[in-house]
Amino acid sequence: MTAPLTVVDHPLVQHKLTLMRAQDTPTAVFRQLLREISQLLAYEITRDLPTELRTIATPMQDMDAPVLAGKKLALVSILRAGNGLLDGVLELIPSARVGFVGLYRDEETLEPVQYYFKVPQSLEDRVVIAVDPMLATGNSSVAAIDLLKKAGARDVRFLCLLAAPEGVARMQEAHPDVPITTASVDEKLNEHGYIVPGLGDAGDRMFGTK
Ligand code: URA
Repeated sequence: MTAPLTVVDHPLVQHKLTLMRAQDTPTAVFRQLLREISQLLAYEITRDLPTELRTIATPMQDMDAPVLAGKKLALVSILRAGNGLLDGVLELIPSARVGFVGLYRDEETLEPVQYYFKVPQSLEDRVVIAVDPMLATGNSSVAAIDLLKKAGARDVRFLCLLAAPEGVARMQEAHPDVPITTASVDEKLNEHGYIVPGLGDAGDRMFGTK
């Protein structure tokens, strides 16, 4: 069975996404919107995290109240655009552990090649949320999750801002156990591997590069 694809169609998410798509939205605003939207998406992707009861004292009386159970979450940014999503999610889950996966595309083989990999210990005991704003061809995200699983991760979730149907299919084929949460599944990929209508190059738009 394939893990769920969740498209967060909340009006706030869709409003912010529209502002991000618009080409005249300035870098600083784009970055702030990404921070805000990432928190709304993170809220959804963590909806089923296990909790346990802890006895606390309120000013009125003792009570057994829920707290997150188990080891701290691991957030893994797929460089470089993943960092834009990471910042917002970390604000929401400040105790999360953080990892980074860097991949580039070999221009001859077109295969993703790892240039950086640093992740928290005990991945096997953590919920691991891999973040990358754009699930386009899916090649780098699939490769990043391959590496996370090799490092021991067993409960991996994938958080992106936008997805192409091709990227969703690729991820679901390679990692059917990995749920995907996104703000939109757009129409298609163009011949250059960009999501259409999309928002352009997410890294360039968030970092002001070209
Ligand atoms: N990466 C991006 O930044 N944008 C796309 O549309 C596809 C991949």
